[in-house]
Amino acid sequence: MKSLAVGGTEIWYVDRGTGLPLVLIHGFPLDHTMWTEQIDALAGPNQDPSPGPTLSSATAMRVLAPDLRGFGRSRRGTAIGDKVTMDQFADDLAAWLDTLAIREPVVLCGLSMGGYIAFQFWRKFAPRLRGLILCDTKSAADTPEAAAGRRGMAQRVLREGPAPLLETMLPKLLAETTRQQRPYLVEQLQSVIAAGDPQGIAAAARGMAERPDMTAALGQIRCPTLVIVGQQDVISPPAEMRGLARAIPGAKFVEIPAAGHMSPLENPVAVSMAMREFLATV
Ligand code: MLT
Repeated sequence: MKSLAVGGTEIWYVDRGTGLPLVLIHGFPLDHTMWTEQIDALAGPNQDPSPGPTLSSATAMRVLAPDLRGFGRSRRGTAIGDKVTMDQFADDLAAWLDTLAIREPVVLCGLSMGGYIAFQFWRKFAPRLRGLILCDTKSAADTPEAAAGRRGMAQRVLREGPAPLLETMLPKLLAETTRQQRPYLVEQLQSVIAAGDPQGIAAAARGMAERPDMTAALGQIRCPTLVIVGQQDVISPPAEMRGLARAIPGAKFVEIPAAGHMSPLENPVAVSMAMREFLATV
């Protein structure tokens, strides 16, 4: 991993391959490792001497996967108060791309909270987008009850550490079949969540609680868009995501079998294939 100073903190990220920049934004409360399979499948040849998996030059990608502020190896930073809004995360991404001297439009792919951030990036920096991939996310804002629940959870995590999230979130992230048949994925998520920084988790939870409702804006998205959902996603169910895809002009919609909310982890081959087909068209 590499790191860069951005917005008063250090953003750690993976940067692999050459070609069209594809930025993968992780969900809450995770880090870039949820995209490991897509990085391997989609990154074009490495710039260093050890060759990565090769793709035809038409689909070769430069795959970038950051740990968002407050997650993974990236610290929350002291200049930000006790909340990081989706807007702030989008600003971080723009500043990070500037620091990387990536001026050409990128394909931005976000899962769940990563999707909330992608919507804000589109709202603020649409000319910097060549395409959007929205995985297992939603355009609606939180209900007042859900927002209050998040703020309560933020307080709990600050007092008790990330453990409460293991009880409340973990069962919903993976499909029932994944939990039964691939316990190593449960363990993988468990260890990422348990190692999370309570300050970073609480700040992002408060930010999500006040994210704007983007539903009315979906019809104005003009860049090529792919919408992906795990067929057993209970957080952003297929019916809701199909509606989201229908509202975005020309968006492609793909349901991923044998997967819940964490479709890129649960069925990586199907997700990478859907992404690759889409990327060949943008
Ligand atoms: C995520 O996966 O990022 C979360 O489910 C987002 C949320 O809690 O709304």
